[in-house]
Amino acid sequence: MKSSILASVFATGAVAQSGPWQQCGGIGWQGSTDCVSGYHCVYQNDWYSQCVPGAASTTLQTSTTSRPTATSTAPPSSTTSPSKGKLKWLGSNESGAEFGEGNYPGLWGKHFIFPSTSAIQTLINDGYNIFRIDFSMERLVPNQLTSSFDQGYLRNLTEVVNFVTNAGKYAVLDPHNYGRYYGNIITDTNAFRTFWTNLAKQFASNSLVIFDTNNEYNTMDQTLVLNLNQAAIDGIRAAGATSQYIFVEGNAWSGAWSWNTTNTNMAALTDPQNKIVYEMHQYLDSDSSGTHAECVSSTIGAQRVVGATQWLRANGKLGVLGEFAGGANAVCQQAVTGLLDHLQDNSDVWLGALWWAAGPWWGDYMYSFEPPSGTGYVNYNSILKKYLP
Ligand SMILES: *[C@@H]1O[C@H](CO)[C@@H](O)[C@H](O)[C@H]1NC(C)=O
Ligand SMILES: *[C@@H]1O[C@H](CO)[C@@H](O)[C@H](O)[C@H]1NC(C)=O
Ligand SMILES: *[C@@H]1O[C@H](CO)[C@@H](O)[C@H](O)[C@H]1NC(C)=O
Repeated sequence: MKSSILASVFATGAVAQSGPWQQCGGIGWQGSTDCVSGYHCVYQNDWYSQCVPGAASTTLQTSTTSRPTATSTAPPSSTTSPSKGKLKWLGSNESGAEFGEGNYPGLWGKHFIFPSTSAIQTLINDGYNIFRIDFSMERLVPNQLTSSFDQGYLRNLTEVVNFVTNAGKYAVLDPHNYGRYYGNIITDTNAFRTFWTNLAKQFASNSLVIFDTNNEYNTMDQTLVLNLNQAAIDGIRAAGATSQYIFVEGNAWSGAWSWNTTNTNMAALTDPQNKIVYEMHQYLDSDSSGTHAECVSSTIGAQRVVGATQWLRANGKLGVLGEFAGGANAVCQQAVTGLLDHLQDNSDVWLGALWWAAGPWWGDYMYSFEPPSGTGYVNYNSILKKYLP
């Protein structure tokens, strides 16, 4: 998801206050409706509001910058000899640590937050087995790409990663940076390689970690995107991290619908361990941007990825749909069902899919997969569960 930023405003004048994660409202609630410092009261449903980390009155502002418009309307005809089977991965993005874009390093609890491990536990109980943990490179390496890590940010990030992998599930490390560092396109592939060597060293012995080279490269030189991905792969393997999958992403926001025309050069990536997975993103709204609750049609899901399916198979590659979502309506629910049917029917090349997105600060965001009351979770959990590994 491109450029979702969180604007926060401080609350004032709390008296008797509820503690972290405690109830702070709901029908019949007699206690305090204020939260202790560092937390704010968030409506979950008519009967329950809860104190969650962060400043009050958080609202999401979604960028209106549009992505390239999808024009394809090819029918979702089945491709050559699909091997119907099971996906290896089904899970969600976990947002929060990358929030507060532009406020660097920013304040924990105000500009950014780490995913809630109790919410992740709920999703694990539901059967999900992969979580893409978004973070910001500017917070992990505040000085330069090659410099040492901010220990507090690394510790908090590692805590979430370990929570996921200790449960036997996969944790995707996602620098949510769009191929940029402090807003500038990363052109120093050697520095990028060093960044990845340093990060992979931290997780070299954890084979349930997956390294995602960067979120949504876009409007960049196509060869540079190839070279950055290769530098990341080389840096990761040089760190002795040899057992992990590596998710590579393409230019043009890694869109699945345009992969076969924009990112064909990515087939040249090499990995001595042969564990590259091509991560693509696909939303089902008019411009594929994931900024509208409406989907184009009930069949748009499969239509938008069928070309990518063919590309993966023709090139002998594996893919994962790293971001997808739909609004809370019947057309989108059918489109998402068609999308997941397509991925599952082609599980010889598609390994899995990750909903966009869970995270503690999404509030009433139309795609929120944060249990128990996120709009996406409420409307799609039972649909997604049919495709669990
Ligand atoms: C995951 O969360 C980030 C954080 O905002 C978002 O930008 C991204 O689109 C979401 N989905 C994936 C698969 O990253
Ligand atoms: C890490 O998390 C703790 C709370 O668990 C918080 O107090 C601290 O500010 C966080 N630091 C960073 C850099 O995220
Ligand atoms: C490229 O992908 C799109 C979207 O899936 C598809 O409609 C189109 O037929 C594909 N083109 C080629 C040349 O494979």
